[in-house]
Amino acid sequence: MTAPNNPPSFFVLGAGVIGLSTALTLRSAYPNSPITIVAKHFPGDRSIEYTSPWAGANWATFAHDNGPLEHYDRLTFNKFKKMIDEEGIGEEVGIGRMGMWGIFDEPIEKAGILSDGTGKLWFRELVGGLRELQEKELPEGAVFGLEFASTWRINTQVYLNWLQAQVLQKGIKTIRRHYSSLASLYADFPSTTLLINCSALGSLHLTDVRDTNLYPTRGQTVLVAEPKVPIERMYFRSPARIDPTVSYVFPRPNGGGVILGGSRQDGNWSAEVDMELSKQIMEKCCALCPELGRPEDLQVISHNVGLRRECLALLPSRVGGIRIELERLSNGVPVVHNYGHAGAGYQSSWGTAERAVELVRKALEPAAKL
Ligand SMILES: Cc1cc2nc3c(=O)[nH]c(=O)nc-3n(C[C@H](O)[C@H](O)[C@H](O)COP(=O)(O)OP(=O)(O)OC[C@H]3O[C@@H](n4cnc5c(N)ncnc54)[C@H](O)[C@@H]3O)c2cc1C
Ligand SMILES: *[C@@H]1O[C@H](CO)[C@@H](O)[C@H](O)[C@H]1NC(C)=O
Ligand SMILES: *[C@@H]1O[C@H](CO)[C@@H](O)[C@H](O)[C@H]1NC(C)=O
Repeated sequence: MTAPNNPPSFFVLGAGVIGLSTALTLRSAYPNSPITIVAKHFPGDRSIEYTSPWAGANWATFAHDNGPLEHYDRLTFNKFKKMIDEEGIGEEVGIGRMGMWGIFDEPIEKAGILSDGTGKLWFRELVGGLRELQEKELPEGAVFGLEFASTWRINTQVYLNWLQAQVLQKGIKTIRRHYSSLASLYADFPSTTLLINCSALGSLHLTDVRDTNLYPTRGQTVLVAEPKVPIERMYFRSPARIDPTVSYVFPRPNGGGVILGGSRQDGNWSAEVDMELSKQIMEKCCALCPELGRPEDLQVISHNVGLRRECLALLPSRVGGIRIELERLSNGVPVVHNYGHAGAGYQSSWGTAERAVELVRKALEPAAKL
């Protein structure tokens, strides 16, 4: 055990949803430790290198591994629920409850949503029940649809600021700086016990951590004004849960407007808005959600491009290879990695942060106990 007067000290690299959530989870586990977040970008910044502000975002799981990915998403769903229902955190958090229609253009066996092994929809109870949409509710060409009774929608602008405010309130220090390697970060702060790497794609440019399994999946969205007819639910439509042609409509809570998406362009780093793609997104979303009215009447607030960061699935059955691992720098300093959340960084954030902190605990256990 570390003596209470000499608690371990931590550096977290990255201040996206993952770095901020991981630092807060670390704070709960180590209330007396010095914790510092160092990052090039913080909430409020808008850069193609910083993915978190560009997310939709909602909770609509991609996990079907009957394993850790489902666990991370479940834990995060329940954490949002606890924050809203029990901790008395109100509108300021930027998360709201809402139902959703998921419409699929392929049969359920091909939709990539049934859990490996069980063949079930693992989130049925979690979202308060799933109702199969009736024939007459489905748009032309759709094969089936599911209504999620209740899930979460996130105003990423409000939520990221809320996370940052929590970080500051809990005595976590923040430093804005770019590092080209974890070793150079350590060299500046040699009393650090352990580093946590939540740098997402940025790590591609870290010289000592070049992870060539990491690649971007470009996502384009359009933020539009809230229509006068309230939108009652979120929508997505796609052949399968993960598909380049996905369309979605997420009304954000707290005056966040409506996010229309989307696209998934693997390996594409372009930060330029593709206006033809924006036009197609608006047309498809208006067809999906009649409350939006006609595409030509939408009030466009902004066209957005974000890069999701995926790890090549190292196991063939894995959808999205989040990397949460313990490693050591060449000088022996432990590093816990938590990156590669692809399109699920918000909905898996608290679960993956828990797992990262478990690895921190393990790394700090006295060698005798290993
Ligand atoms: C269009 C789109 C829609 C999405 N929709 C959803 C959704 O509905 N639900 C959902 O759960 N997820 C969604 N996502 C995914 C989600 O946005 C990401 O998984 C999440 O934002 C990843 O967060 P992060 O903290 O890992 O990375 P980032 O937000 O990119 O943060 C990386 C941090 O690391 C810092 N950094 C990196 N390298 C260095 C360095 N060398 N030195 C210093 N600092 C460094 C950066 O400055 C930044 O602070 C969507 C993504 C996109 C693009
Ligand atoms: C840190 O994370 C990035 C991904 O964000 C990864 O590419 C890199 O290898 C990691 N750095 C180290 C030192 O392991
Ligand atoms: C990347 O995406 C942009 C915008 O949709 C497109 O114009 C471009 O052709 C794509 N590039 C590649 C290499 O696919």
